[in-house]
Amino acid sequence: MDSRIQFCLVIFMVTLATILSPTLAKLTPNYYDRVCPKALPIIKSLVKQAIYREPRIGASLLRLHFHDCFVNLGGNQYWYKVLLGRRDARNASWAAANANLPPPFFNFSQLITSFQSHGLNLKDLVVLSGAHTIGFAKCSSFRDRIFNDTNIDNNFAANLRKTCPRIGGDTNLAPLDSTPTKVDTTYYKSLLYKKGLLHSDQELYKGDGSQSDRLVQLYSKNPYAFAKDFGVSMIKMGNLKPLTGRKGEIRCNCRKVNNY
Ligand code: HEM
Ligand SMILES: *[C@@H]1O[C@H](CO)[C@@H](O)[C@H](O)[C@H]1NC(C)=O
Ligand SMILES: *[C@@H]1O[C@H](CO)[C@@H](O)[C@H](O)[C@H]1NC(C)=O
Ligand SMILES: *[C@@H]1O[C@H](CO)[C@@H](O)[C@H](O)[C@H]1NC(C)=O
Repeated sequence: MDSRIQFCLVIFMVTLATILSPTLAKLTPNYYDRVCPKALPIIKSLVKQAIYREPRIGASLLRLHFHDCFVNLGGNQYWYKVLLGRRDARNASWAAANANLPPPFFNFSQLITSFQSHGLNLKDLVVLSGAHTIGFAKCSSFRDRIFNDTNIDNNFAANLRKTCPRIGGDTNLAPLDSTPTKVDTTYYKSLLYKKGLLHSDQELYKGDGSQSDRLVQLYSKNPYAFAKDFGVSMIKMGNLKPLTGRKGEIRCNCRKVNNY
């Protein structure tokens, strides 16, 4: 069977099961065990196939989870032990998305305020930003930083200006850290050397001994602390205003509301 159709079938069965069983309308790590034990292995193998075909998918999925949690967009991809059963909003809107997501030019206090408004604290902010250990950003997301910021390494900025000129090249990509396909502590190490790509990244480390600085230092040298705290904060973020049961749905096609 075509894997896409297989996936839709699983989703349909899960939806049916949740409607029939209101006690399932809660997030639990074994959500799919009860309603459809085959769902996770199938999702896992589909995600694996997708990442094999296009390595950036891993980064996109991680980012999507962040968007999803902040603004009710689609996406149900899981790694670590996550609470399953989060539903996709039936009415996603770009405008709402842009209004809710913190932009890359936010300063530290703006980032804190944005995270706090979603029930997340300073530690969540610092550790979740560590997701930028993988993936890329468009020139338009870091242009102001490489031309105007002072809290940036000179050679680092000069190099980036080759990829990202003052005018044009808006969609040219640069890696968020120097090892964009590896989950490691390079993201935090680069902040110590003023080599954060986004303004918002560098806001987490200013070298003034703040609590945020100390967390960056910790994660820069302790991958275990990073992995552990990242897992905790991801689960916390995954629990934000979840749409469960009939209030939401799991999409067959992430771009469209289901028609059943
Ligand atoms: C602290 C606030 C955050 C800001 C301001 C922010 C901003 C951004 C921006 C501007 C990009 C580049 C988009 C582009 O230019 O195409 C990006 C990429 C990314 N973000 Fe964040 N982000 C934040 C937090 C997070 C969190 C919490 C996660 C996940 C847990 C995350 C995961 C990612 C990933 C994986 C990418 C790379 C996507 C790719 O390569 O396609 N970000 N982020
Ligand atoms: C989507 O629906 C939710 C709940 O049904 C509602 O609170 C929210 O305002 C809606 N969002 C948009 C963008 O229409
Ligand atoms: C952060 O940005 C806001 C809004 O532009 C501004 O009012 C505030 O003074 C800034 N905070 C710092 C510490 O620069
Ligand atoms: C840098 O700052 C100047 C002056 O505020 C502004 O005009 C410009 O748009 C900013 N960005 C870049 C890429 O020069």
